[in-house]
Amino acid sequence: MEHQKLTAFPDDFLWGSASAAYQVEGAWQEGGKGESVWDRFVRIPGKTFKGTNGDLAVDHYHRYKEDIALMKEQGLKTYRFSVAWTRIFPNGRGEINQEGLAFYMDLIDELIKHDIEPMLTLYHWDLPQALQDEYQGWESRQIIEDFTNYAKTLFEAFRGKVHYWVSLNEQNIFTSLGYLLAVHPPGVTDPKRMYQVNHIANLANAAVINAFHEMDMPGKIGPSFAYTPNYPIDSDPKNILAAENAEDLMAHYWMDVYMWGKYPIAAMKFLEEQGWAPTIEEGDEELLASAKPDFLGINYYQTATNAFNPLDGVGAGKMNTTGKKGSSEETGVPGMYKKVENPFVERTNWDWEIDPEGLRIALRRITSRYRIPVLITENGLGEYDKLTEDKKIHDDYRINYLESHVKAIKEAISDGAEVLGYCTWSYTDLLSWLNGYQKRYGFVYVDQDETQEGSLDRYKKDSYYWYQQVIRENGANI
Ligand code: BG6
Repeated sequence: MEHQKLTAFPDDFLWGSASAAYQVEGAWQEGGKGESVWDRFVRIPGKTFKGTNGDLAVDHYHRYKEDIALMKEQGLKTYRFSVAWTRIFPNGRGEINQEGLAFYMDLIDELIKHDIEPMLTLYHWDLPQALQDEYQGWESRQIIEDFTNYAKTLFEAFRGKVHYWVSLNEQNIFTSLGYLLAVHPPGVTDPKRMYQVNHIANLANAAVINAFHEMDMPGKIGPSFAYTPNYPIDSDPKNILAAENAEDLMAHYWMDVYMWGKYPIAAMKFLEEQGWAPTIEEGDEELLASAKPDFLGINYYQTATNAFNPLDGVGAGKMNTTGKKGSSEETGVPGMYKKVENPFVERTNWDWEIDPEGLRIALRRITSRYRIPVLITENGLGEYDKLTEDKKIHDDYRINYLESHVKAIKEAISDGAEVLGYCTWSYTDLLSWLNGYQKRYGFVYVDQDETQEGSLDRYKKDSYYWYQQVIRENGANI
């Protein structure tokens, strides 16, 4: 649809940026913090790019005031961050670690003092190792109670201060990378376990959303889903069906549950045939259907283009975590779909497809299917950046990326989508879980390399100033 004139962004549109505890905080053994599964996993040789870890990360734990001052100067309306469960409950449950709670209280107060709306993610993958050891973490239903208890602790502590809450960050990613591809903790390859873990995570997500509403919390809560809209490579009906399969198995399989409490029919049939379907106990369906998120968070980076894949076809291939363009392997689910290169889009050095139109398509699809407001909780470009001798970073490629995506949001709003806000990934440069420090996403450059050498000084990139202008004009000139 071509519009004569685009609809303006709403006055209260949340222009923001995001991070996650493990990727920025550091201070992994300070303030009474317990060990998380990521603290443990990164120590296994060969798991991360050049063995990088978040022990120090970008030292946000000690530098948050400096980072927030930069946000204020830029004009950010919201900052999305996650709480490390192990700072609140070092062993996942039991006694509250007051020092951990105080750290986040200070961070939140600092944001509020600077008129920045805190947006809090309850879970961004750093599960307490103690719960993994005790009952295998997400594999046990015990986690529903423990996660809900942890969430309620934060609800009580930050009631009235935090109005935007993200329950689970990218459940689709942490379950599949943890239990299918074995590249995240606990490093398992077992589809049956993956779908079981995922079902339990759905229940925990629903329980926490219900708790939020039962406690009559002022504000909104929703999950953040990593949505990669699927396209067919061409109009061959076989390829169209492959794209439908991918959309059902890779997207509706999560979003339908969040919104309707129901798994999609065709995907579930496929899982049953493979013997991978989760065990659904009495009461589960009721719990899933009872939870009503206030918004759907989406993390959007790219689209996927699909073709027919026979039962003896391509399976999971290796991802590009080195930044060597073209090094990712072919990947698919035999009998469902395989991913192929889209000839119409460019790719980053990590082989992620750059497709702003895909964001508009994502927002359109969600709006039509679920009729729910959307909060874009992540979107951004991971690339190499260069600090010049005069301490500048000319990241025009990032500006192009972000600008085209903001335009796509404006178009989607003009199409009728309700979008509450836009958080870029990420605020400062940070640790990219598997890709080290060289894959940079921030508006703010952090002086540090893979060996963690560097001053950790912060420098504003060109994109920092570009976003400052966009916020000042409320996107009017996009
Ligand atoms: C999302 C995550 O998957 O994408 C972030 O929520 C992550 O934590 C981001 O960093 C970018 O992915 P990557 O692998 O490039 O760091």
